Amino acid sequence: MAQNVPIIMDNGTGYSKIGFAGNSEPSFTFPTAIATRESAAAATSSAGSRGPALPSKPGHLASKRGIEDLDFFIGDEAIANSKTYSVQYPIRHGTIDNWDLMERYWEQSIFKYMKAEPEDHYFLLTEPPLNPPENRETTAEIFFESFNIAGLYIAVQAVLALAASWASNKVTDRTLTGTVVDSGDGVTHVIPVAEGYVIGSAIKHIPIAGRDISQFVQNLLRERGETTVIPPEDQMIIARTIKEDYSYVCQDIVKEFRKYDTDPATYFKRYEGQHSVTGRKYSVDVGYERFLAPEIFFNPEIYSSDFLTPLPEVVDGVIQQSPIDVRRGLYKNIVLSGGSTMFEHFGQRLKRDLKQIVDSRILASESASGSHLKSSGMEVNVISHKRQRHAVWFGGSLLASLPEFYQSCHTKAQYEEIGPSICRRYAIFGSAT
Ligand SMILES: Nc1ncnc2c1ncn2[C@@H]1O[C@H](COP(=O)(O)OP(=O)(O)OP(=O)(O)O)[C@@H](O)[C@H]1O
Ligand SMILES: [Mg+2]
Repeated sequence: MAQNVPIIMDNGTGYSKIGFAGNSEPSFTFPTAIATRESAAAATSSAGSRGPALPSKPGHLASKRGIEDLDFFIGDEAIANSKTYSVQYPIRHGTIDNWDLMERYWEQSIFKYMKAEPEDHYFLLTEPPLNPPENRETTAEIFFESFNIAGLYIAVQAVLALAASWASNKVTDRTLTGTVVDSGDGVTHVIPVAEGYVIGSAIKHIPIAGRDISQFVQNLLRERGETTVIPPEDQMIIARTIKEDYSYVCQDIVKEFRKYDTDPATYFKRYEGQHSVTGRKYSVDVGYERFLAPEIFFNPEIYSSDFLTPLPEVVDGVIQQSPIDVRRGLYKNIVLSGGSTMFEHFGQRLKRDLKQIVDSRILASESASGSHLKSSGMEVNVISHKRQRHAVWFGGSLLASLPEFYQSCHTKAQYEEIGPSICRRYAIFGSAT
């Protein structure tokens, strides 16, 4: 058994979170971006040949590691070099779609950032729900054959998010049954999980997430003429900062508008910025976008014309499509995960709107069946907690600290004996029920 602390890597569409098991925060959070010298056209054709439908063998680093191969950057350094290098995102909608770039991204994550010798460590990696099993095999090939790691566990992100919620003091039993609302940069997933297994047929995706909310803030600022002072290349990043630092979910949009109009001095904020090139200072008024931005989860029609279902209705639909015997457990344990669930009062609003939907359905069925059949009601809980921002990573950190972790991994010896197919299955562990 390896003595070193396991390494946890959660590679998201927008950001990767990387660190050691047992910690409460990842050591690094940086964009899942890689900057290489190769031309964009060559990179696109390589992505095509290594798409998830037809995964080909990853390149083997040992044979190609030369000076040229080191000429690339990942994360914030990749973004900083975007003028002279070609920047690409090897993960699309949560799924790896360029294995060569991903392999190089992992290589630098391990050697340059974690400064770890992979053969001394067990690794826990994460994957989106319904990831094709071939992708697990390709991942295992890269980690065992190119990096020569000691052991591997691949976990489904939603299951890790449930484990992370054990950190909340509202959670009394370590269950792996619940509904995960995971909202990151590119997409929002609603995923029902029963005893550690994802109920794949009931999952729903919402095409609204962090990037859209930043875009919406930018639109609102532009409509009010605030953006004239902001350099065009900084507009998106400032919209994102305003969103992250000033936005919150309100409980009643009409009342909120009225509050702002009666007392703008209290509610309007001021963002102070500085031109990244000239150093010139400027300031921007931050107004209604503070509560309108995350409102697109609850009233999507204010932003989008093709996706119109409010998040609480989607959550209700997911649970209603799950087997009847687990529905109570799914309503009782709705767990938030990912950066875009961080808005203040997000959980409170989701709970209130969902409870209204559930209660009115119960009322309707009671009156349809006559007043003699009284329902015992349905408990609806939404769990917010301190580790929500990096919930998937933190859940991995927690599970990989349990003694059962090592038995649940596949080791290098097992991989060599059975082959990559061994990584199609992993045991579920950690819950008390
Ligand atoms: N305090 C905050 N309030 C609101 N949004 C935030 C906050 N902090 C981060 N975000 C947003 O969260 C998003 C990143 O979330 P996360 O790291 O969970 O995404 P990801 O895992 O890379 O993406 P995905 O899950 O879509 O693959 C960004 O859009 C960021 O602006
Ligand atoms: Mg994510």
